[in-house]
Amino acid sequence: MANFIPVDEFDLIIFGATGDLAMRKLMPALYHRVRDGQVTGDSRIIGASRGALSRDDYLATVETALRDHLREDDFQDEEWHKLRDRIDYVQCDAFAPEAWDGLVNILNQSGNRVRVAYLATAPGLFGPIAKGMSQNALVTESSRIVLEKPLGHDYESAYAINEQVGECFAENQIYRIDHYLGKETVQNLLALRFANSLFEPLWRRGSIDHVQITVAEDLGVGGRIEFYDKVGALRDMVQNHILQLVCLVAMESPSSLHHDAVRNEKIKVLQALRPISADSLRTTTVRGQYTAGAIRSETVPGYMEELGGSASATETFVALKLEIDNWRWSNVPFYIRTGKRLKAKHSEIVVQFQEVPHSIFPEQTFNVQPNRLIMRLQPDEGVKLSLMAKEPGPGGFDLRPVALDLSFEETFGIRYPDAYERLLMEVLRGNPALFMRRDEVEAAWQWADSIIEGWSSTKQKVESYVAGSWGPSGASLLLDRDGRAWLPET
Ligand code: BG6
Repeated sequence: MANFIPVDEFDLIIFGATGDLAMRKLMPALYHRVRDGQVTGDSRIIGASRGALSRDDYLATVETALRDHLREDDFQDEEWHKLRDRIDYVQCDAFAPEAWDGLVNILNQSGNRVRVAYLATAPGLFGPIAKGMSQNALVTESSRIVLEKPLGHDYESAYAINEQVGECFAENQIYRIDHYLGKETVQNLLALRFANSLFEPLWRRGSIDHVQITVAEDLGVGGRIEFYDKVGALRDMVQNHILQLVCLVAMESPSSLHHDAVRNEKIKVLQALRPISADSLRTTTVRGQYTAGAIRSETVPGYMEELGGSASATETFVALKLEIDNWRWSNVPFYIRTGKRLKAKHSEIVVQFQEVPHSIFPEQTFNVQPNRLIMRLQPDEGVKLSLMAKEPGPGGFDLRPVALDLSFEETFGIRYPDAYERLLMEVLRGNPALFMRRDEVEAAWQWADSIIEGWSSTKQKVESYVAGSWGPSGASLLLDRDGRAWLPET
């Protein structure tokens, strides 16, 4: 049975209250937390946006969103009413100082309770909203501000946002979201590495041959195409989610789970990432874009068709070879790939150990494969350890890989909470461990920027791949050059 610790009374203001994130992720997450009794007293959720909506209009929008986004058997009128009673709506415009009165009035009704401003808006509004809160004396000691990704477009814009927000909020009040850090299986990485002594002696060069991280999506870009076309897969997925996964796999053991202990170790990994220079781009990076194809027998259009036929060099797929320049990981490459419209939604981290140094088995049965530890993030979250075993039989000595396979859902038998449920509760509790610190975000941008600049200066081409495949052929070549292949072999 999961243990739900109630959070203190709070006021949560969601800026961008009618947007996709608020409707698709935040409201369903709050529904579950209210249902499980974690939200107490007269805690309030205040939707804020520019639209002139009445509270009833807003509630109707939220109800529709919950019915659309919750699992059918999860939506219950009684639970919805518990959430509904806490929700209010206020019109507010970041750029119009006079348009803050409504919010000021509402917030002044409560005493000095936890106040969280969740900015589910475009990053261009982060600075102005922070300023609006400060100018209207809404930033108290118990205030926090949550910044959604993307935090800027590059190092410079991220730096500017951090400066603007930093003028109004102290760093320990700023929560930068990377929702991958709230995923159960990502958290399990910490448990796997630091609550078991088995792996630590092997978790290094000498024992590990290489690491692969795949975050594959079968969906296309959909309604976000205009935004996405200016962004691409490297900024959308690698600079944040995948680098965070790399950090959790590669970091040294923190001395505790204290937020700065963990983040101090992660930043060291980011600082040790070898910059990918323009000279090495062609052998260490691959960009791809999907063309029309079929996913589970359903025909889907290509990226440029979705764009209305305009030409575009935006990558919807990226594969990279990363090197971490420190003692633990020297010469242990991390291969990463992510893309839209791939064959399936499938995300995993594979740690491949080295081959046995000498095989004692007869040559005809030599098929000794290196051990692999596979952490599945989605779907079917779990951990798998592949080992070699002898196939049963009276004669010969045939070997084959078998797996110790742990499915978290089968083992724990509970619903997996969405990452936003945990992240929202952590903000309300005032624990920034699962959020990115300013230096992490900036270091990740600096590293990503050099790749983006290199792609532009060397005019590295975007390879096409058919929707429903596992990406462009260059991605296989990337590993093939090193005598390796993506797993599972596809
Ligand atoms: C978001 C990206 O941050 O993560 C999206 O902007 C992507 O493009 C999404 O689809 C993937 O998240 P998840 O939780 O479905 O793996």
